[in-house]
Amino acid sequence: MDKIVIEGGGRLEGAVVISGAKNAVLPIMAATLLTAGQNEIDGVPRVRDVITMLRLLNDLGARTESFERGHIVLDTSGVNNYEAPYELVSTMRASCLVLGPLLARLGRAKVSLPGGCAIGARPLDLHIRGLEAMGAEIRLEQGYIYGSVKQLKGTRYYFDTVTVTGTANLMMAAALAEGETVLENAAKEPEVVFLADVLNQAGAKIEGQGTDTLVIQGVPSLKPIDCRIFPDRIETGTYMIAAAITRGDVEIQNCVPLHVEPLTLKLRQAGIIVDNNGTSLHVNGDSPFEGVNITTQPYPGFATDLQAQFMALMTLAKGQSIIFETVFENRFMHAAELNRMGADITVQGHTAVVSGVGQLSGAQLMATDLRASASLVLAALAATGESTISRVYHIDRGYLDMEEKLSRLGAKIFRTK
Ligand code: UD1
Repeated sequence: MDKIVIEGGGRLEGAVVISGAKNAVLPIMAATLLTAGQNEIDGVPRVRDVITMLRLLNDLGARTESFERGHIVLDTSGVNNYEAPYELVSTMRASCLVLGPLLARLGRAKVSLPGGCAIGARPLDLHIRGLEAMGAEIRLEQGYIYGSVKQLKGTRYYFDTVTVTGTANLMMAAALAEGETVLENAAKEPEVVFLADVLNQAGAKIEGQGTDTLVIQGVPSLKPIDCRIFPDRIETGTYMIAAAITRGDVEIQNCVPLHVEPLTLKLRQAGIIVDNNGTSLHVNGDSPFEGVNITTQPYPGFATDLQAQFMALMTLAKGQSIIFETVFENRFMHAAELNRMGADITVQGHTAVVSGVGQLSGAQLMATDLRASASLVLAALAATGESTISRVYHIDRGYLDMEEKLSRLGAKIFRTK
């Protein structure tokens, strides 16, 4: 298995270009199942999760006409299979995004339950109850969700918890349902707003995106999708923190500053200089920085997907930082690894108390999930000596060309088999 080796201690300098958002492209790819024709998606990062979703769509009968230079052409005319097998869903939970579209398109779905994952139980109960409220019959058997319905019907549904893929799943199902669907306590993430906008361009009637309440008037059919994916806000935030943690000076190009505003404000509060230049951000970490507290929340709160990376930064801050994770119940796996590098982190339940230390030292590290892996890379960049990170397939799931991008900024990073 691949490992990443990092010789830490250097300062990152230069410019990095952000790729298309993984979490935006996955629901859009699932949404192509709602159409029967040639869909075109531009700005697609060729990361492992995208390849997994493509494999799944091909299994379902869609045909990949081409995937070159970030442009996917996907023909969904022949979609006829309704099974998302365990092998695919277990490697990528977002495979569950095909559940709503399959019920809307074929009236049937068999989707594996994702099972537990490193960052918590992450059930699909809210997706399932919502689809039942739309008239689908759902049963769970042998680890699979079996769904069937003649015609999905509009409904009024309240999400007990804000769920990103849950909102996307029900929005896609409602787009082709009969009548009006109202989704309350809906997710407001940019990826959800984008999905609504793209579906509307394809002929859907969705209002309220970006607010707690989505109102969807079902339509009989949609035109194929044609869109360009916006820059990845989690990749943006990861490089912002990379600049700060290495006391570097980095221009982060092709990003949407508004999408990372909570992080920008927290970095500034800590003493890091962040300049917003419209479509780029300039981060300078020359001055010493202080510990600040964060609480993760659904958008527009501080993203849980940036919590691990921010914790890595706080290990080197002056003073203490309290990190409160409210979105997932078990998302501090990186803390133990950071402590092995000399950090001082105490975890109790949903709270981590980080006491800044003067220096981290390189170590042999193990990645546990996608964003935890990124936090280890960041810590290793700042540490003295060499670090080796194993299980880097987690990084490949969501970061395009991470070693190349960091190398260009001056990092000493390479991959071994
Ligand atoms: C999405 C993102 C992921 C991010 C997360 C939170 C994608 C592909 N993934 O994941 O990167 O970390 O949002 O911003 O976009 N929950 C339930 N029942 C459900 C559904 C969710 O209890 O049916 C709970 C989860 O266990 C979790 C919380 O709701 O505690 C939020 O999860 P959710 O927003 O659904 O995360 P994902 O959509 O899987």
